[in-house]
Formats: sequence, structure tokens, C-alpha cells
Amino acid sequence: MALIDIIARKKRGLALYGPQIREFARAAADPDTPDYQLAALLMAIRINGMDPRETAELTLAMAQTGDMLRPEVGGVPVDKHSTGGVGDTTTLILAPLVAACGGKVVKMSGRGLGHTGGTVDKLESIPGFRTELSEKDFLRIARDVGCCVVGQSGELAPADKRLYALRDVTGTVDSIPLIASSIMSKKLAGGAQGIVLDVKMGSGALMKTKKDCLTLARAMVDIGRRAGRRMSALITGMDEPLGSHVGNALEVREAIDTLAGRVRGPLLEVSLALGAQMLLLAGLAKDEAGAGDLLTTALKEGRGLAKLAEMITAQGGDARVCADPSLLPQPRAKTPVPAPMDGYLSGMDTELAGRAAQVLGAGRLRKDDVIDPSAGYILFKRIGDAVKKGELLAMLHHGENAPAGQAGEMLLQAMRFSDAAPKIKPLIRARIAPDRKEK
Ligand code: URA
Ligand code: CA
Repeated sequence: MALIDIIARKKRGLALYGPQIREFARAAADPDTPDYQLAALLMAIRINGMDPRETAELTLAMAQTGDMLRPEVGGVPVDKHSTGGVGDTTTLILAPLVAACGGKVVKMSGRGLGHTGGTVDKLESIPGFRTELSEKDFLRIARDVGCCVVGQSGELAPADKRLYALRDVTGTVDSIPLIASSIMSKKLAGGAQGIVLDVKMGSGALMKTKKDCLTLARAMVDIGRRAGRRMSALITGMDEPLGSHVGNALEVREAIDTLAGRVRGPLLEVSLALGAQMLLLAGLAKDEAGAGDLLTTALKEGRGLAKLAEMITAQGGDARVCADPSLLPQPRAKTPVPAPMDGYLSGMDTELAGRAAQVLGAGRLRKDDVIDPSAGYILFKRIGDAVKKGELLAMLHHGENAPAGQAGEMLLQAMRFSDAAPKIKPLIRARIAPDRKEK
């Protein structure tokens, strides 16, 4: 089957047949296929779309170009995927909490991408922590501890790896069927039977509107269900960083403080909501209220923090950070960011706020940049808070030669101020429950 015939069919806006879709996935994983043919087909898909059947078939075909894990972990293996945000360290809170409630969390995470943070980079700020494990060790830890978080191996959905790199340079990232199949091919290959999606909405997210978020969430839920997985999805706000800490070691610290019961707020709220969905999919609770009770009891009893320590030890890290977060990498310098005027913090360009952390060294500007695990900032105000001129808005953490002045300006530029208190939006904007109901 010639790729040119498949391109021609999609160019005319027609749906591709199953064998054509499988040929596309095979060709994407074949280094002998020229980039230009794949790029042409990606653009035809970007312009003419794919229906749910095509999207699901493409996803499964991409997953099957690599390893397909079948985790034997003594329970229903569950996973969570976020479409990416800033100050969003829910994984480090919910994975141990769900494990403390009897769940089996098998999680493959990514590194930071653009303005968004990545769980693998955060975990690597813990001294000794290993995110590259053999499949055998990954599954053993998930079974014995109840949660294990690793980086993604090169053998998962190689077709996606090639296509994603091409999309990045051909203006074809912003296609719902391509995003949905890209994300879900890796999730299906990872082997979780229950998958919770956190689709972020707002100024720091891939999708800015509720309509687009719901379309993406429905597409991913549909793919998972067609592949026989249990699915649920939440649409959650990303109009400002989710936690008050942005940066790798800083976010680990906030996760520890949250599990220790020292910090509450939006980060905990979203972590509990997603964790509850994971317990439901695993069959460990019969409704959301019951699942929420299990998680808050585990939190109160300190069992989430104990699980995090257990996971850190199992993955080679120094679990003493759980009792003493000052053992995490510390910055060489700190720079305060004072409020420029009286008023209310009324809005935020969260993507720009994420870029401010990135230029401090928390993320990579180029693919092979080395990150500074201690870099980032702590925010002292959330949207809706009153501020006084000169009052501390944020404290930047950075190395001696980092462009702190530039980062501080970016952060201020990212913030909007108003005279009147702004209206606060709820954090959870919509949900697609395991029983298929949308609320
Ligand atoms: N994340 C992915 O893995 N793929 C996409 O296409 C977008 C976000
Ligand atoms: Ca992520």
C-alpha cells in the first residue's frame, strides 16, 4: 500500500480505512519512510480531521509499533495523565495517596516541555532518585509499594515519537485527533487498565476554552474505551499555577508539605479529585464521596507521606527529604518580586509565568540544556488576593548567574492587577465520570 494513496485520500477529506491507518503507523515507525510523506499526511489530517473510529484505530496502531506492557501488579493498574501545566505536581501527591488506599499506580511521566514542568525532572531533584528502571523493577515496585513513577522508555509507541517531532516543526501540533492519539498511544502501551485524564484549561494550558477541552477529553475517553480501558476525565483550571511553588525541587517540597498536612489549597483539591477517580476505576470505592473519604483519611493519618518515602527508597532516592525537605537542592541566591501597585491580583498569563521559571533554569530552553533543580519561585498571592504596593508577590530561587531580573520582569508582566476583586472560577470545570455521565 503506497503512502501517497493514503495522503491523496485524506487530502480529499475522506476517512481512511483500517489497513491504511495501520500502514501509516507502521510507516511512521520505519526510519526508511521519508519525513515529507509523513508531514504531508499529518497536514492533511490537521486540515481535514479524523472521525472517532479513525482516531481510535490510529492510536492502537501507534501503540502497537512498540512494546505493550501487561502489568501484573496484584490489582487494577491505574494511571493519570495531565495535558500539562505550571506548578502542577499532583502526581507526587496522588500516586502515594492512592497507593496508601490500596491502589496500584503505574505511571510513566515525561520531562518538562516548553513552559510546562515534568514529573521526571521533579523526581530527579531528590538525591539518588532513579527514573530509569527496568520493566521488571518498575512492575515489582508498583506491586510491592503500590506506586512507581518512571520516565518513558524509548520502546513505547515509537511511531508517536517520530510523528510528534515532525508535528512540532510542521505546524500540526494543534489537531485534536493527533493530540488525542499521541497521548493515548503511550497510555495504552503503558498497560494501565484504568486511566484518569486531567485536561487543563486556561492561560497555562494547551487548550484555552472549555469547548476545546471537552472535545479533547471526549476523544481520549472514547479511544480508551474502544481499547477496553476504564476511563474518566476532569477538566481543571490552569489560569494560574496550581500550587504556590514552581520549579523542580520546590514542587517536590510542596508535595511533601501537602502530604504532611502543612499545606492545603487548589493543588490538594485537584489531587484529591483525580485520586478519587483512580480509586473508582480501580474498584476500590463505590462513589466519589467514598473515594474522597478514603483519601482524606490516608492524608490525615500521614500514610500518603509514608508511601512517598517508601517509593523514594525503592527507586534509590534519599527518603529523608520527606522528614527534612531542606535536604533537597537549595538555591545559591534568592530575589524578591514586590508588588508594583495597590489592588487585586486579577489574572495571569500562566504560560509566561512558566517561561519565567524556565529562564531561571527550572526548564530547558534547548533540548540538551541541563536544568537547575533548585531554580523556580514561590508565589505568595493567588488570583483574587489583595496586594499592597511593595508587598512580596514572589521569591525567585536561582543560581548566581541566572537572569533573575529578566525572570522577575516576566513574572510581573504575567500578572494582571485590578481595583476591584475579580470573580474566582471553580477549579473543576467539568468531568466525564467512569459511568460515562458528563457533569
Ligand atoms: N502531549 C503529547 O504527548 N502529545 C501531544 O500531541 C500533545 C501533548
Ligand atoms: Ca506532565
